Amino acid sequence: MKLTLTMFFSLPLLAALFLSYTTILMAKTAPKDVIELGTAGKNGPVTFKHSEHIAKHKLACSTCHHGIKTDEEAKACSACHKTEKVEKTPSYKDALHKNCKDCHKKYKEDAAAKGVKLDALPTLCKHCHKKAK
Ligand code: HEC
Ligand code: HEC
Ligand code: HEC
Ligand code: HEC
Repeated sequence: MKLTLTMFFSLPLLAALFLSYTTILMAKTAPKDVIELGTAGKNGPVTFKHSEHIAKHKLACSTCHHGIKTDEEAKACSACHKTEKVEKTPSYKDALHKNCKDCHKKYKEDAAAKGVKLDALPTLCKHCHKKAK
């Protein structure tokens, strides 16, 4: 009786331990769910639903993380794109604006051509920058 009781209580504990262990392992490569991009700018941070973009629109990692050979190679854009343009590398702001806006524009055109209505496709400043007018 004593043994079964101990087992009864320790099984969920083991399961929880296992789960948190796999979460830690996965966290190394799994993309973040939501990323707050930029904080210091006068327009305020831009909330980017990373996982939702990938899942809902079946996007390959390399759509945005250009030049990667495996998904594990994906890293922050800010690793290369800095505040100012450096030689051929566009600034962080220009790189992200181009990446985000070009795709939203393209989807808008494609949807219009197919007669599909998308929920929300940010193209105006205030759609992405919460503090912008
Ligand atoms: C599709 C989303 C999106 C739209 C639309 C957009 N931006 Fe941005 N913008 C971003 C992201 C992402 C960054 C990079 C993160 C950061 O630095 O805030 C950024 C950065 C910036 C920055 C540099 C950082 C700062 O906050 O000062 C400025 C200035 C800026 N945007 C202005 C604008 C203006 C003006 C418009 C409208 C003409 C606009 N943006 C439209 C997503 C967007
Ligand atoms: C729609 C564009 C887009 C897609 C698709 C995308 N990402 Fe990202 N990812 C970003 C942006 C933007 C950032 C933030 C980079 C920054 O702030 O410099 C980011 C950040 C990351 C980071 C760094 C997070 C950190 O801690 O700084 C990792 C890792 C990552 N992505 C992995 C992935 C993987 C793996 C996939 C595919 C399953 C993927 N991404 C798909 C746009 C994208
Ligand atoms: C390993 C460094 C590196 C990382 C990480 C990186 N970039 Fe770049 N990116 C570059 C360089 C270098 C260029 C300029 C040469 C080129 O076009 O390949 C560039 C160019 C660009 C351009 C302009 C392309 C054009 O046709 O004008 C965009 C947009 C861009 N990057 C977006 C991103 C985004 C978004 C991320 C993160 C999800 C990211 N980059 C991560 C190095 C990087
Ligand atoms: C390759 C295509 C693609 C790229 C790149 C992309 N998006 Fe989007 N995004 C979409 C589509 C498609 C939707 C429309 C979603 C819907 O209709 O449900 C969307 C919707 C959104 C929305 C509104 C819905 C929500 O999540 O609240 C925001 C905000 C947004 N994107 C921000 C960004 C930012 C910031 C970037 C750049 C870091 C970015 N997106 C890059 C395709 C893209």
